[in-house]
Amino acid sequence: MTAPLRSDPTIVKVALDARSYDIVVGRGLIGSLGARIAALRPGAKTAVVTDEDVARYHLGVAEASLAAAGVPASRVIVPVGEGSKSFHTFQRVCEALVAERVERGDLVVALGGGVIGDLAGFAASAVRRGIDYVQVPTTLLAQVDSSVGGKTAINSVHGKNLIGAFHQPILVLADTATLDTLPPREFRAGYAELAKYGLLGDAAFFSWLEANWREVFAAGGSSGSYARERAIAVSCRAKAAIVARDERETGERALLNLGHTFGHALEAACGFSERLLHGESVAAGMALAFGFSARLGLLPAAEAERAIRHLADVGLPTRMKDIPGNLPSLDRLMDLIAQDKKVKRGTLTFILVRGIGAAFVEHGVDQAQVRAFLSEKLAEQ
Ligand SMILES: NC(=O)c1ccc[n+]([C@@H]2O[C@H](COP(=O)([O-])OP(=O)(O)OC[C@H]3O[C@@H](n4cnc5c(N)ncnc54)[C@H](O)[C@@H]3O)[C@@H](O)[C@H]2O)c1
Ligand SMILES: [Zn+2]
Repeated sequence: MTAPLRSDPTIVKVALDARSYDIVVGRGLIGSLGARIAALRPGAKTAVVTDEDVARYHLGVAEASLAAAGVPASRVIVPVGEGSKSFHTFQRVCEALVAERVERGDLVVALGGGVIGDLAGFAASAVRRGIDYVQVPTTLLAQVDSSVGGKTAINSVHGKNLIGAFHQPILVLADTATLDTLPPREFRAGYAELAKYGLLGDAAFFSWLEANWREVFAAGGSSGSYARERAIAVSCRAKAAIVARDERETGERALLNLGHTFGHALEAACGFSERLLHGESVAAGMALAFGFSARLGLLPAAEAERAIRHLADVGLPTRMKDIPGNLPSLDRLMDLIAQDKKVKRGTLTFILVRGIGAAFVEHGVDQAQVRAFLSEKLAEQ
């Protein structure tokens, strides 16, 4: 909790030896995109990859900034939504980059949410065997999660994010002003991933969020508190520290999946649709992870309830009945959980908690106990 309460951009360092980079968090940063790129890569040209909605709101400012700094820029605009993380769109983006003669030494700029970051980052990793790229995340989820850490991917018919690469950006510019145009539901969904950092490893941050979440939701800076900037910087610092210690997810990085095993099952049961956004499924999943951990006696029930109450207070789903539409059957949920995490001798791997801010990886979770717990949750009215 060391992010300053001031309007200057906050810089979070991602320490990965030769691949280290800065995440810059602040209001109005897109206006400095061109100057920052010109300073980082003199003479480079850029290709800005974005989606139709983000283009409408933020491409003009980005292009004006690049032009003012004398950075040549082309653009690739793809349709909105998860559907763009496909081979078809990946091919389109790659071919556009090649056609624009984007070479080694030039830069791809990913301007958008997690879909654009994953798609453009993967295209950058592949074209000419790897071009550097800059992330300009425009959703809260992308600013605190997907733009940090270098995971890029598109989807397979067999599942999400199965085809991709680790490819770190050379700069992340998290302009909090872009969040002013984000639909409130998308902002709230991103907040689940933000609260996750408190819940998994930083109890002080979680307490701070309990006291200040309204300020985080209010347009950053307008209230004079910069709570939004501060919360995003703390989240980026938390993810950067974990990624620096475990870039390729051989251990600790798995903690970032708190709430994701239960969450993915619910998200898949809803067909990865508007019914339940990813962040909403993570909120419901974290509530289940806390409830299940309390059931196993790992933490007092009151502490689990405190975690769940905060997610509910901000308007995120925490109970099965908060999920619109028909709920999946218990068998279907258990199948989806088993698909997500391979079952080893009847046991599953989950991220569990010993308290707020104290998550850990548990490999030996008994399937029968998960089943009994979920059966009860599904029956709750
Ligand atoms: N690489 C990683 O480590 C990682 C981590 C988490 C999630 N992800 C991926 O991220 C994706 C989800 O990201 P997302 O939630 O940002 O989705 P998204 O990119 O689809 O953005 C959500 C919606 O908001 C719109 N939007 C974006 N910025 C806007 C703005 N400033 N104003 C108005 N509208 C705006 C988009 O057009 C879209 O309709 C998933 O594909 C997921 O797999 C990747
Ligand atoms: Zn997530």
